[in-house]
Amino acid sequence: MAKRPDPELRAVEAQVALTLTVDDFEAAARDMLPEMVFDYYAGGSGEEWTLRENTRAYGRWVIRPRVLVDVSNVEPMTTVLGQELPFPILLAPTAFQRMAHRDGELATAHGAASLGAIMVVSTIATVSLEDLAATGVRRWFQLYVLKDRGLTAALVKRAHAAGYEAIVLTVDTPLLGRRLRDERNSFALPPGIGLANLEGSGLPESSGSGLFSFFLERHDAALTWDDVAWLRSLSPLPLVLKGIVTAEDTRLAVDAGVDAIVVSNHGGRQLDGAPATLDVLPEVVEAAEGRIEVLLDGGIRRGSDVFKALALGARATLVGRPYLWGLAVNGADGVRQVLEIIRDDLMLTMALAGRPAIVDIDRSAVAPAPAARERGEEP
Ligand code: GLV
Repeated sequence: MAKRPDPELRAVEAQVALTLTVDDFEAAARDMLPEMVFDYYAGGSGEEWTLRENTRAYGRWVIRPRVLVDVSNVEPMTTVLGQELPFPILLAPTAFQRMAHRDGELATAHGAASLGAIMVVSTIATVSLEDLAATGVRRWFQLYVLKDRGLTAALVKRAHAAGYEAIVLTVDTPLLGRRLRDERNSFALPPGIGLANLEGSGLPESSGSGLFSFFLERHDAALTWDDVAWLRSLSPLPLVLKGIVTAEDTRLAVDAGVDAIVVSNHGGRQLDGAPATLDVLPEVVEAAEGRIEVLLDGGIRRGSDVFKALALGARATLVGRPYLWGLAVNGADGVRQVLEIIRDDLMLTMALAGRPAIVDIDRSAVAPAPAARERGEEP
């Protein structure tokens, strides 16, 4: 006799069936995660103004559809650093994923791998970079430069040895931003979860945020442009700087010989009051003068957001929180589902906008939204 489906499974299936958008996944994840964990992922620094601006900025642009274009084949494939991507969305580095799901980064890696997407693995992951390499996921390594430069160099060398294809140096985090949610929750890692790339160590004891204390104790706030040459000397891997939001720093990055930059304000988690990434993208792209590739993260929740970023000059985009919500709700499958939601929306947007290939998404594909123009917010 056929077994009746387990009611708990049916409940999960019903919930997943309702998750049509990234926001649906976020709502489901909020229901499932402990408050401290949800707040850590969802929160930003200070008043969370930059966090909100990141998503609002997409509403300041409209898409200019062209019609009577053959869109019977829409192709979202592109390249970044000469590496082929099936669609212009990478998984941004995010920390401590075993708080979201028991398999943590391993599940994310399987979800990303199922679509051929590139996962940027965090220095402060809760699964080691070697164990993630063993999944076969396409991978880049995000680097925090620690006061212990020997340990930092060892991380880069381990990443190279383990088949990572780029180093992504985060440059907006000399100290951690002040995240009030984490202070109020006395953010700490749950028992049994540690920093797998750093000998499984935990976060320091703290009456506020344990992560804030970690940065104070171990991260190198003295890092400057002069160190970029040293970082480049550690491995032959391409070097990407993540966390640039000005033309001045873009020009310095070009001069420093880096391979790409990510326009990022760390998901609104560092300097509160920094601009929305989409707002500064045109300035950065102009300063880059096509000499390095410009990627963007921050606030992307749908494919039309990716489309707007590409139209304003981004080579590709990264998403962070969206796949964490997928991970929390449904492990590797949830990660895949969220990426598919954004990818499919991008493809539909491309079709309806009459831009069937990535190269067709040029500056003429977007215009400032009339309301933004009236408010004098024309970027
Ligand atoms: C870690 O990088 C964080 O932003 O929490």
